[in-house]
Amino acid sequence: MSDQPPVASRESRAQVRQMLLIGAVASALGIALALLIDWFPVPASGQAGPIDTLWDVLLIASVPIFVLVETIVLYCAIKFRMRPGEELKDGPPIHGNTKLEIIWTAIPAILLVALCTYAYVVLIDIEKAEANAMNVRVVGEQFTWTFYYPSDGGDEIASPQLYLPVDTAINFTVQSKDVIHDFWVPEFRMKIDAVPGIDTHLRVTPTRMGEYPVVCAELCGLGHSTMRQSAHVMSRDDFDARLEELQQQAAGGGEEGGDGGGETDGETLFTDAAQPTACGSCHILAAAGATGTTGPNLDEVVPDMSEEQLRQAIVDPDAEVEEGFAPGLMPRYGDSLSDEQVDALVQYLTEVAGK
Ligand code: CUA
Repeated sequence: MSDQPPVASRESRAQVRQMLLIGAVASALGIALALLIDWFPVPASGQAGPIDTLWDVLLIASVPIFVLVETIVLYCAIKFRMRPGEELKDGPPIHGNTKLEIIWTAIPAILLVALCTYAYVVLIDIEKAEANAMNVRVVGEQFTWTFYYPSDGGDEIASPQLYLPVDTAINFTVQSKDVIHDFWVPEFRMKIDAVPGIDTHLRVTPTRMGEYPVVCAELCGLGHSTMRQSAHVMSRDDFDARLEELQQQAAGGGEEGGDGGGETDGETLFTDAAQPTACGSCHILAAAGATGTTGPNLDEVVPDMSEEQLRQAIVDPDAEVEEGFAPGLMPRYGDSLSDEQVDALVQYLTEVAGK
């Protein structure tokens, strides 16, 4: 082997050109494919537009780099692989090429600074405070969300579902009663951790009417996957009417707790996944077709319980925990359900459990 650096032959220059051409075509295909994929659900907030554009720009910037590197690796592995008898043909290594080193340091640095600046500008834009924003307090606990609205009377209005007026900026204050949860409405694109002991904040302006899932996006225990409720984005008039309804329910719904509002049909409370109870997601109950195994099998335990024991198991489940199950798993429904709702559940379970 000589000490002279190898002179690029006409053949090797042609191979580099071929490799780059394949890389360019593959990159164009990769970008087209990446942009064709429907990554996100329907955008339903003012924040969704800039975030989706940022996502597209990141794809356009990063897909060609990945595709180009893979193309070069594959091209070299196929074209320049060692054949029998070529064991000693390996050329001298490239060493100390200043021009090459400057290029491969500068290009990624410029790209990273540009993308970070752009992402930062988007972040500032989507998090900026809006005048006349409405405040909503979101409280997470194992395994449910409760939403609180300020009222003229002073007492907050609690709701098991999230109701929002369309085209109104919302300031969410997010809290947790126990472990870390994460408040997320995929259609709004925004999400933030609910951390015990501190308040976190999120600004969203819903721009599209409809019903969207509220999801817990932080593994928070056995019932994590059941921690799903609904966000209803409605007209201002519908929203005001809904809030008034919630307020009236709270006023008439029993002395202690009693701010659950809404549903008073035991079967619906048990089976409907949109209800904050949605007992069927954690318990087995043949009559309801429920197969959850997070909590005790109700077909087995309920027939042996008195109505009073059953009531206590719903209102204050940790007072007596079934053997083999951990305390703290089931929410204290005494805090969120009205007496009427608890009665309905007790009645429903006594009628159907074990049958
Ligand atoms: Cu709460 Cu996961």
